[in-house]
Amino acid sequence: MSGDPAIAALVDAASAPYRAAGRFAWHFARGKLAGDPAFAAILSHGLLAGRARILDLGCGQGLLAAWLLAARAAHLEGRWPGDWPPAAAPAQLTGVEINPREVARARVALGERAQIVQGDIRHVDYGSVDAIVILDVLHFIDSSSQEAVLRRARAALAPRGILLLRVGDAAAGFGFTVGKLVDRVVALARQRRLIRLTCRAASDWQVQLARLGFAVEALPMSQGTPFANVLLVGRLP
Ligand SMILES: C[S@@+](CC[C@H](N)C(=O)[O-])C[C@H]1O[C@@H](n2cnc3c(N)ncnc32)[C@H](O)[C@@H]1O
Repeated sequence: MSGDPAIAALVDAASAPYRAAGRFAWHFARGKLAGDPAFAAILSHGLLAGRARILDLGCGQGLLAAWLLAARAAHLEGRWPGDWPPAAAPAQLTGVEINPREVARARVALGERAQIVQGDIRHVDYGSVDAIVILDVLHFIDSSSQEAVLRRARAALAPRGILLLRVGDAAAGFGFTVGKLVDRVVALARQRRLIRLTCRAASDWQVQLARLGFAVEALPMSQGTPFANVLLVGRLP
């Protein structure tokens, strides 16, 4: 099996549970899982393979958990591309999300299969985990909170833990401007207010992760989209 049909089947499987959460949740799940290259890359690069306790900060409607669960099932059933590393088999999937409507959708879709905590990533306890994922979230909080979240993420990770941090690259020009505009418009529609975004160049994020002790690899992560996103993969020794 090659990657593309496998991805289409995973999009179907991972989005199906969102039907119970309403039309918007289901359509959003399908569009995001199919169109955002980060989800396929996490599987094809095996970034979360072998990680038992996974924490998703700013999890939205819990798509990463749904994706990993669908991947695990596909792998067990032999519907898995031969050139991909094994799917993650997490014993503990936790998401933290501040928006109660996203939390409600996540809980309906995921039920007991993941724990969705309604809370602020600046304040909730991260516990002890093997992987932390933060996709498109940190720019919503100010720079000292960003630093505190990353410090606490570092402290919560077990030895050889992994941090996946996706950010818009503020040094990247037009694609970055498009991403920022989309975030502002979505926030205006959902929260009826203009929000402040705190963005940085990908190289600045990389330096900060390196200072915290991560070995960092940067993967371009906006293929097929108009954005300029980078997935920073931070590995602890
Ligand atoms: C662009 S969405 C990304 C959602 C998810 N990570 C994904 O990739 O599908 C950003 C999410 O971060 C959440 N968020 C923003 N600030 C937060 C905070 N301080 N604590 C928890 N969640 C937060 C938002 O409510 C939103 O659901």
